Amino acid sequence: MPRFELGENGAHISWAGTSYVLGVLGQGHLVHGYFGPELARADLTHLVRPVGVSYLPSLPIDREELAAFARLWGPLPGSVAGAAMPRPVYSPDLLPLEFPGFGAGPLRIPACLIRAEDGTFATRFVFREQRLVDGAPGPEGLPWVREIPGAVAARTLQVDLVDECTGALVTLSYVPVPGIPVLLRWARITNTGTKAFQVEQMCSASFDLPGAELDLVTLNGSWARERTIHRRPLAPGLQQVESRDGSSSREHSPWIALCEPRAGERDGNVWSLSLMYSGNHVHRVEVDPHGSARVQAGINPFAFAATIAPGDTFDTPAAALTFSADGFGGLSANYHRFVREALLPPRWRDRDRPVVINSWEAYYFDVTPAKLVDLARLGAEVGAELLVLDDGWFKGRHDDTTSLGDWTPDPGKFPEGLGPVADAVGGAGLAFGIWIEPEMVSPDSDLYRAHPDWVLSVPGRPSTQARNQLVLDMANPEVVEYLFGVFSDLLSSANITYVKWDMNRKMSEVGSPSTGDQGTVAHRYMLGVYSLLGRLTERFPEVLFEGCAGGGGRFDLGMLAYTPQYWTSDQTDAVERQRIQRGTTLFAPPETIGAHVSAVPNHQVGRVTPALTRGLTAVGFNFGFELDLAGENAEDRKVYAGISALYKRHRALFRRGRFYRYLPEDVAGESVAAGVPRPVAGGGRCAWGFVAPDKGSALVFAFQAVAGANSDGGFVRVWGLDESAVYRDVERDMPFDPVFLRERGFWIPPSAGDYQARYWILEREE
Ligand code: DGJ
Repeated sequence: MPRFELGENGAHISWAGTSYVLGVLGQGHLVHGYFGPELARADLTHLVRPVGVSYLPSLPIDREELAAFARLWGPLPGSVAGAAMPRPVYSPDLLPLEFPGFGAGPLRIPACLIRAEDGTFATRFVFREQRLVDGAPGPEGLPWVREIPGAVAARTLQVDLVDECTGALVTLSYVPVPGIPVLLRWARITNTGTKAFQVEQMCSASFDLPGAELDLVTLNGSWARERTIHRRPLAPGLQQVESRDGSSSREHSPWIALCEPRAGERDGNVWSLSLMYSGNHVHRVEVDPHGSARVQAGINPFAFAATIAPGDTFDTPAAALTFSADGFGGLSANYHRFVREALLPPRWRDRDRPVVINSWEAYYFDVTPAKLVDLARLGAEVGAELLVLDDGWFKGRHDDTTSLGDWTPDPGKFPEGLGPVADAVGGAGLAFGIWIEPEMVSPDSDLYRAHPDWVLSVPGRPSTQARNQLVLDMANPEVVEYLFGVFSDLLSSANITYVKWDMNRKMSEVGSPSTGDQGTVAHRYMLGVYSLLGRLTERFPEVLFEGCAGGGGRFDLGMLAYTPQYWTSDQTDAVERQRIQRGTTLFAPPETIGAHVSAVPNHQVGRVTPALTRGLTAVGFNFGFELDLAGENAEDRKVYAGISALYKRHRALFRRGRFYRYLPEDVAGESVAAGVPRPVAGGGRCAWGFVAPDKGSALVFAFQAVAGANSDGGFVRVWGLDESAVYRDVERDMPFDPVFLRERGFWIPPSAGDYQARYWILEREE
């Protein structure tokens, strides 16, 4: 259980092998002390001492305090020279401030930027008090953990900082998740003054890491190539990934990691933080001239400003921080446990996910009851358990130019509504699910004609359309209420057990015609989305909600708090998918990562890959199909059925086991510009595996993009097994020593042909 040591001069939180230390300097500065492997005790003894009076331009500092600080952090820059002087001094800007303001001492990138009513920027946050509270109170209306493990033991460290001039009171919350090395942080700002002020930046979390000899890893991409791993050394100055399009975006995921240059899948120190938020975000690092790296995550301050009247508060979304001394493998294991055990809606945490067959790449908009029933019948033969009626089912929807907002079945296609189709699909043995895009409206729709004022817009400006659609003003509670009624009716109208919630465009003209504070519209939009999602998932607890945003555009820890699975990408080509899924597993566990077998030639890249490779790429993740099975030959259908059977046999292992990325081992960055997979070490090989919690069984998958001439194959090293045991390769009936597998690995024979895949099922011998 988490341990909190609170002193006058700081705090030490230790849990799950990790420590996080805060200190308070005599001037009242709250400083970051440490974030890393668990410490027996943190030396906070001398951190608080009244020193000097003035703090500008440099601070006098007590020698003992300096020495204590140095033990935690290393000597303060400038203080070495100062040591020879009668009173050493330091500049507050050089301090590793835990939640820096700006303009009244600290000048590096702030965690909070306030514009006072008179237009000036000067904030100095001073420590006021810290306390432990029972439980884990979260930010208002934002994604948060529910029923966390050891919830009775969950406690929160709250630290209050004040800026006396503006009356801004910031309360920082720290929640170590019991038993899991993840720390949740968020902040609330309260105006305790007499005048309104504007918050122009407000991070969820900020901390400084000493030494900038680190690599920065980010997940970047675009439509159909989401979450490609990008790795580069930190450089002086500011580096950041951000989104400005109203979503957490396909371009820059709300996630970063910093690691030692030697860190790979198995070794090395890695720190990461990820916002639990699906709107505009920034994740950034500023490296100062003394080599200190300030790491932050929060709502993107770009085009954001929140006016806080006296007595009002503003909550940031939460950020999930984690540290691993075992490289990126350990890092992902931390996030996976957090998502599985604390973040996903409790009802879906340890529950089998159905094998879906989705109509999109089978028929696109041209869906009819007869086709769907046919697809369900053929789907049943290959092991599908749920049919998803994707886009194209609602009133007048024959292409993407009309009808979003009119969520009743198209009378031409479904004259008797969805009930009979759902029943017929049920007759074929499959459950029935449906696609919706609640946040959008087509100009050519009854909804828009009735409520043209319900879209995001800026007075006097024409609204920009994208995919022929406009964005509903989710910041307007009236709109949210209306949608709750519409979708409650829809979900009650037929036996619908699954919903795919899509969101297909970026925002523009971000104004809310009927509500106040235009500087927070994009944020309040997200609050509206979370409110609708929260209410619908509560009203229909047995309906499985899958998130989607034009592929994987809002695949983040915020959405995972409501939707226990997510459509990863509109890219369904196996080779491209291997890269996308690998990147996504950095923070998301496999059972949340939607992965479907689709037809060849692939609809996005035209590549032809073998059925087995397509199947093995998808199996183990949130597995399903997305193709017109009537067009598939009998041999491939047999392969698909075999893959489904493999999935069902090992579904619990995929969902509960520990996931390992085995190849490439170095977490190398890949080209993000070209969208072409950079040949990874060993000629385009990639491998991953699942090891059961008790290590009694494991499945390993390996893929090779291109065949090599006169090649002798290669090896995939496999770790995470029980090294005191021997395993049997079930398919080939061969014994394997796990130490041999860790050091040498499975031999991948030279492949005859491109895009080959193979797998090994290992059982521990008794
Ligand atoms: C984008 C999604 O990612 C696709 O899977 C599909 O649902 C289309 N939208 C439908 O318009």
